[in-house]
Amino acid sequence: EKMPLQVDINGTMQKLSIEPRVTLLDLLREQLHLTGTKKGCDHGQCGACTVHVDGQRVNSCLTLAMTTEGCKVTTIEGLGSVDQLHPMQAAFIKHDGFQCGYCTPGQIMSAVACVREGHANNPDEIREYMSGNICRCGAYANIVDAIMDVKH
Ligand code: FES
Repeated sequence: EKMPLQVDINGTMQKLSIEPRVTLLDLLREQLHLTGTKKGCDHGQCGACTVHVDGQRVNSCLTLAMTTEGCKVTTIEGLGSVDQLHPMQAAFIKHDGFQCGYCTPGQIMSAVACVREGHANNPDEIREYMSGNICRCGAYANIVDAIMDVKH
């Protein structure tokens, strides 16, 4: 049976009707067609699905959508726009912080949280904070460079 859910997604209050067991990831991708958030493992092990809920980063594949009632959810689509990239998006481009790009939305959402939470003081700290975001192409060094650039 569907349940009502009111949640702010990227600045728009959404009044939804959802199955209680649906994850935030599936809500975003399948119901709202916000496909910037990626499904990698669907088990909390890759970070491709990272979004912010009330400013905190979460793995949206492990978050039941119902738990975001009344919250503010930000996805990669809400971070910047094509005309006005978020500084972290611009830094990833400048430093080639990706190859195939599949993990990039999650990497950027984590990177923004990393700087905001004060864990971007040196490359070791950044690597530790970002360790839940897997990049199969191995763009890690450039990702750290991009985060250091935004931080300093
Ligand atoms: Fe959520 Fe991999 S899809 S952590």
